[in-house]
Amino acid sequence: MKAGIFDSGVGGLSVLKNILNANLFDEIIYYGDTARVPYGVKDKETIINFSLEALDFFVPHQVDMLIIACNTVSAYALEEMKKKSPIPIIGVIEPGIEAVQNKIKDKNASILIIATQATIRSKTYQNKLFQSGYRHIKGLATGLFVPIVEEGVEDSEILDVTMRHYFSSILTPPEAIILGCTHFPLIADKISQFFNNKSLLIHSGEAIVQHLCHNHSIKQNQASKQTKLKFYASSNPSSLEKTAQKWLKNF
Ligand code: DGL
Repeated sequence: MKAGIFDSGVGGLSVLKNILNANLFDEIIYYGDTARVPYGVKDKETIINFSLEALDFFVPHQVDMLIIACNTVSAYALEEMKKKSPIPIIGVIEPGIEAVQNKIKDKNASILIIATQATIRSKTYQNKLFQSGYRHIKGLATGLFVPIVEEGVEDSEILDVTMRHYFSSILTPPEAIILGCTHFPLIADKISQFFNNKSLLIHSGEAIVQHLCHNHSIKQNQASKQTKLKFYASSNPSSLEKTAQKWLKNF
């Protein structure tokens, strides 16, 4: 089976990593719109237009399904993309909500969603959690984490200062934190430590693997051999490949 993975840039590599670990597909085409990243600070219309253009990119590659690794695209453009596409399109938000439902049974549990400005503004996570019965939901835009991860300075004081900036008003650790942005799994340990390792962290990559296996009958280790991978980017593809080598270590 051949899958496409779309992201606004390099961040979707964190989702790709979980998918590769599970060995779900024979072939994966990864496309990052690096010429126009970040999407997380753009308006809804722009995000939809860029995402629909990405559909055209995948047409000649004839993928069997398209995975949207980007939370911002999943939040704003998924429905429009589905309307225009003959193949299944799967975003990361529904799997994230399923992961919360599987792991957090108490509907009064406090759930913090951290994501880009656009994802938080769309209220997609918040509304879906509310519809699932959760009542203590907080959305927080933490966009500065994106360049910190991309610059590779997550081990520096900059991250500590930024976490204090965003989180100091949260006095008790939330029961769950949704890492609602592709880049955040790379700083998951630091975020967890900030909250004294008391919060359950929900990762898009792990959640989407579960979703693909349970809702789309894709089996782990179903790919016959190691997944054939191809990377494409709308700008500077060699830089994307370099980041892939770093983020996907062991592949
Ligand atoms: N990939 C985006 C997301 O998961 C983060 C980077 C961006 O703003 O484009 O929301």
